[in-house]
Formats: sequence, C-alpha cells, structure tokens
Amino acid sequence: MRVARIEAQAKINLSLRVLQRDPDGYHGLVTHFHRVDLSDQVLVRAGGSGRAITCAGKRMPAGGLGPPEKNLAYRAAVEFSNRAGWPDGFEIEIDKRIPVGGGLGGGSADAAAVLRVLNALAPKPLSPQEIWSAACALGSDVPFLAGEHLRAIAEGRGTDLAYVFDETPYERYRMVIVVPPFSISTADAYRWIDEDRAQRGQTGPEPLKPIKLITMHPSKDDVRRAMEDATNNDFEPVVEARHPEIRRIREQLVKEGAELARLAGSGSCVFALFRDLPPKTLDLDFEAQLIPTRLSSKVVQVEVLE
Ligand code: C5P
Repeated sequence: MRVARIEAQAKINLSLRVLQRDPDGYHGLVTHFHRVDLSDQVLVRAGGSGRAITCAGKRMPAGGLGPPEKNLAYRAAVEFSNRAGWPDGFEIEIDKRIPVGGGLGGGSADAAAVLRVLNALAPKPLSPQEIWSAACALGSDVPFLAGEHLRAIAEGRGTDLAYVFDETPYERYRMVIVVPPFSISTADAYRWIDEDRAQRGQTGPEPLKPIKLITMHPSKDDVRRAMEDATNNDFEPVVEARHPEIRRIREQLVKEGAELARLAGSGSCVFALFRDLPPKTLDLDFEAQLIPTRLSSKVVQVEVLE
C-alpha cells in the first residue's frame, strides 16, 4: 500500500459569466477561479484490489453523499486507474469541511485531490495534459483544481484554462463564507437562468457594463463599487429571486464593511472580502453559519506518507 494525503482547497468564482445553452444542454462559461484556504482533507491508500470511499466530518450532510460509485472522488480514482493502468485497488478517506451544495466546488476539490495524490504515488505518473483530460471528464471545476495554479480565467465548460496566475493581488483581504440553511442544486440554478432568459426573449447573458476606473483618492465606497464592477456572477440575480435570504446576507456583509459580497458559484454560499476584521455574526432572521478563511496564497502540495 502507498499512502498520501492533501488539503483539497475549495474555489470561488470572482467572476462567473454563463453563456448560451448549447444543443447538448450545457452552457459555455467564462470564469475567474481563485483557490480558497477552506479545504477538505483527502487521504488515499493505493494498492490491493478492493475499492472504497468513506466520508466523514462536520460538513457531512445528514443523508450522506450517496452511492460510492457516483461520488466524484471515487470516479476520479477509477478515471486515473483506467488511464494510468494503476492502481487496481484504492481506499479514499475524506474529511468534509467544505459545505456541500454551496457552490465552493467541494466535490470537485475532492476529485482533483484524488488525481493529484494518485499521480504523486504512481509508478508511472500521467503528464499534466493527461491529468487535465482526466479532470475534464469529471466536471467543470476539476481541471482548475487538479492543476498547480492559484487562480485562472477559464472558458469552455470552465475546463479550458485560458490564463493562469501563480500570484494573487488579494493577499491583504480576509474572507468570510456564509452558509445559509439550504443548499442549491447546480442543475436547478442553470435551469433558472434559462427560464429567466426565455421570459425576456434572450438566449445569452446581459451585455457587459464597462469597468469604471478608480480615481486617485478613492473612497471606501468607490473601491467597493469598482470591485463589484470588476466581478460578477450570472447566477446571483436568478438565485436571489428564488432565495431572498441570499440578498439579505450580501446586504448585511456590505453593512459590516465587506468590499465585495457575492454568491459562490451557483450557490447557496456567499463569500465576502474584507480589508479589516470581518464580522463573527450577522444580523439575520434565519440561521446562517460564518466560516472565516482567506483567498489562498499558495497551492497546497501532496504529502506522501508511505
Ligand atoms: O457539472 P455538474 O454535473 O455539477 O452539472 C450539473 C448540471 O448543471 C448539468 O447536468 C447541466 O444541466 C448543468 N450545467 C450546464 N452547463 C455547465 C455545467 C453544468 O448547463 N457548463
């Protein structure tokens, strides 16, 4: 048995444009990914002949995560094994700390972690191109998270990394992730975008607004507006129309000094960036948890144990 583990970092989308629906039902994307320090811990034992996955931890949903064969991390190990001809058997252990159904790419992070861990242990590792191709077969966020970059601008299905960055301009920010008491299915969120566009007779997104340049001595409000203009999320209006709690969370975060408060991916979590100390609680009439974290300043590496 060979054993390795990794902290599987989550992602946020600083910007997320959903383009037209293609004939196969999927939508083109243009998105700005950034890794986040909030992570699941993923440990893989490779070798033997059995195949298993166990998930535990404080973010495990009450109903579990469904059958192992459908779990994206399990599927990642099968995908790797098919391509690399190794390993036959594996055991995956996941400590879930990233909210499930929150838009933070938790499932994708676990799958990407499995690809990276197995590649670090493999007798004949796959090339970065082969890892990317395996990641594309698993889902939109996996190629970015299976790579070695802190942030990226991606196109296609979110799979084609058009620009990658190893540095971040956001180091001085602190971050809070707010977890509302409900999750959102990605498929539903895309459907809501289609329904709203159909109602307005549109097929694609609203036209872009020009980004206003910041003046020499910007006020806090100028900076906040510029951050808002420079980022976006096409899911935000359609999700807020169906879950007004999201708008309430974003308003409270701005009131508490957030420079940016946006829906994470297709929701249901909201992330906010603060220059100063972020709040520990929010004034809301429903339950919501606050997770303090940061935008990552490094890509976590695999730790080989045995
Ligand atoms: O990638 P994932 O399996 O989470 O996607 C769930 C659903 O979201 C898909 O079945 C599809 O309906 C929708 N989707 C989409 N365009 C994308 C990604 C997902 O329409 N680029």
